[in-house]
Amino acid sequence: MQNTASVDGIVTSLEDARVPVLDRGFLYGDSVYEVFRTYQGVPFLFDEHWLRLENSAGLIYMTLPMSSQDLLERVRETVVASGAAAEKLDVYVRYAVTRGVGPIDLDPAASANHSVVIIVKAIDSWNPEFYTSGVTLAVPSVRRNPGNALSPNIKGGNYLNNVLGVIQAKQLGADDCLLVNDAGFVTEASNSNVFFAVDGVLVTPSQHASNLQGLTKLTVHRVCQLAGLNCVEQSVDVPTVRQANECFLTSATREVMAVRSLRLENGEVLKFPAGGGPLTQQVAQLYKDYVAEYVNDNRHRALF
Ligand SMILES: Cc1ncc(COP(=O)(O)O)c(C=O)c1O
Repeated sequence: MQNTASVDGIVTSLEDARVPVLDRGFLYGDSVYEVFRTYQGVPFLFDEHWLRLENSAGLIYMTLPMSSQDLLERVRETVVASGAAAEKLDVYVRYAVTRGVGPIDLDPAASANHSVVIIVKAIDSWNPEFYTSGVTLAVPSVRRNPGNALSPNIKGGNYLNNVLGVIQAKQLGADDCLLVNDAGFVTEASNSNVFFAVDGVLVTPSQHASNLQGLTKLTVHRVCQLAGLNCVEQSVDVPTVRQANECFLTSATREVMAVRSLRLENGEVLKFPAGGGPLTQQVAQLYKDYVAEYVNDNRHRALF
């Protein structure tokens, strides 16, 4: 397959895709986006992603220029053009809606039509060690944006806060960051949610702590509830993290990924079981089972 993009319906190879320099997505990060992946061609949680896009758009006063059905058709066209459909290869899909081209002016009133960009590429291949052993995290000095300055539920084109977190984490020798907020509570990693196992209970930071309402996180809640595992959202401070004996990340592309170490801001390094402890492994399996069931129930929506 060839990585492919669609910019306002014009389909090209990903390298050849272009957006104008006056696009507000480029100038100001004035855009919203979603990422999902397919399993056996089925767009996983397509409707939920669309609802989250609508929510992001609402939070930035943007009216979406197309329906979810039209978007799905455009995604299908892009997947077919990439060759993935013919080869029956699962894909990563990122779609963004920008507020389009306009004068260099923060006020979006004069911007013309919105722009819809779809990127279809081969599924990210994470370092296999991230699954066999786990990722390493570090708490950077940069703090998560306060939610009342920039809502973490705006899944938009402005990710500088998260970029700074990753840069600082790498400077500390870790794979990714664990961002805390100004009050010292854990929020999330750069592009994934985080869970800890504390005294046999799975704990993930609540929405008050400024984190994106991850769809993988919500799926983990659902599967835990069905399996009778105790899984709660609450404030997570550093003393709670110190009590944890397992930790994992969740996102559409990472799925459930074990964390093997966490460097706190004072330099202390917490260790977690390589490859994930028993709860992490159980949740990873429950998630896989849920995906398989979803695929079975949604074959009629497959993109190939
Ligand atoms: C900041 C942030 N948090 C969490 C997530 C995980 O969300 P999801 O599980 O829907 O992929 C993402 C995904 O991109 C993200 O960007």
